[in-house]
Amino acid sequence: MDLGLRGKVAMVAAASQGLGKAVALGFAREGANLAICSRNETALEVVAKATRAYGVDTLAVPADVTRAEDITRFIERTVSHFGGIDILVTNAGGPPAGTFQDFPDDAAWQAAFELTLMSAVRLIRGVLPSMRARGGGAIIVMTSSSIKVPIPNLILSNVFRAGVAALAKTLAEEFAPYNIRVNNVLPGRIATERLLYLDQVTAERAGVSVEEVRQRTIAEIPLGRYGDPEEFANAVVFLASERASYITGASLQVDGGYIKCIY
Ligand SMILES: NC(=O)c1ccc[n+]([C@@H]2O[C@H](COP(=O)([O-])OP(=O)(O)OC[C@H]3O[C@@H](n4cnc5c(N)ncnc54)[C@H](OP(=O)(O)O)[C@@H]3O)[C@@H](O)[C@H]2O)c1
Repeated sequence: MDLGLRGKVAMVAAASQGLGKAVALGFAREGANLAICSRNETALEVVAKATRAYGVDTLAVPADVTRAEDITRFIERTVSHFGGIDILVTNAGGPPAGTFQDFPDDAAWQAAFELTLMSAVRLIRGVLPSMRARGGGAIIVMTSSSIKVPIPNLILSNVFRAGVAALAKTLAEEFAPYNIRVNNVLPGRIATERLLYLDQVTAERAGVSVEEVRQRTIAEIPLGRYGDPEEFANAVVFLASERASYITGASLQVDGGYIKCIY
C-alpha cells in the first residue's frame, strides 16, 4: 500500500530514542521529510543521520519540550526550512514513577503538567497556522494504555495523559473544518529505555528481579511479548497517512491485547 507520505513534512518531538526515534524512522522509510527534536543533540543527530539514509531531508533541532520558547524555535525552524508542516507527532519523556503520596508538593505535579500536557498543547498550537494554510494536516498524540486502565505507581503519567487524550478528542472536532485530523496512539508495553526504567522501579518496590517483573507483565499480554518500537511506529505512520483520511478522533491501542476493556 502506498501511504502517500513521500515529500510530506513530518515533525516528531522527543525523537532521540525509543518510540519517537522509531516513528521518525518509520516516516523516513515512507519518504517523508522530517523535523525532529529532543534535548540530547548528539543522540538526535545520530537519529537524523539514520533517517537521511532513506534519502529524506531531516532537520534536527535540539529542544526541550517543557520550554515554550524551545517549541516555538522548533516550529519556526521547521517552517523556515521546509515551507510548512503536514504532520505533527507529539511526544515527550515520561514523568517519574510514584504514587499519590510520593508527590506531596506542587513541583512534581507542575513539571509533569508541563512535560506531558502543555508540550502537546504548545506543539499543536504552534503547527496550526501552517496546517491551516496548507489546507489540512494530521496530528498524532502519543499517550499510553493508562488512559484506559491507570497504571499503578504512575500517578503523574496517568493523570496528564488522560488530559492529552481529552485534548486530542476535542480537537478532532474543532479542527475537522480545517481538514486536520487528530488521533491518539496508545502504547501498551513497548521495549524501550522507559519500559526498562519502569520495570526496574517495579522490581525494587516488589523486591524481585527485573526479569521476574518482565515475565509477570508478559503473562498479562495475550501476544506473549513486549512490543517492538517499529510495531508501534507503523500504527502512527499509518494514521498520519493519506490512507487514514477518514479516521479522526480515534484512540488506537498498540498493546498486543494488554488492555482488557472493550472500549
Ligand atoms: N515504551 C512504552 O511502552 C510506553 C508505554 C506507555 C507510554 N509511554 C510513553 O511514551 C513516551 C515515549 O516513550 P519511550 O519509551 O520512547 O521513552 P524513552 O525511551 O524514555 O524516550 C524518551 C524520549 O523523549 C526525549 N525527551 C525526554 N524529555 C524531553 C524533553 N523535556 N524535551 C524533549 N525531548 C525529551 C528523550 O530524549 P532526550 O533525552 O534527548 O531529550 C527521548 O528521546 C514517554 O512519555 C513514555 O512514558 C511509553
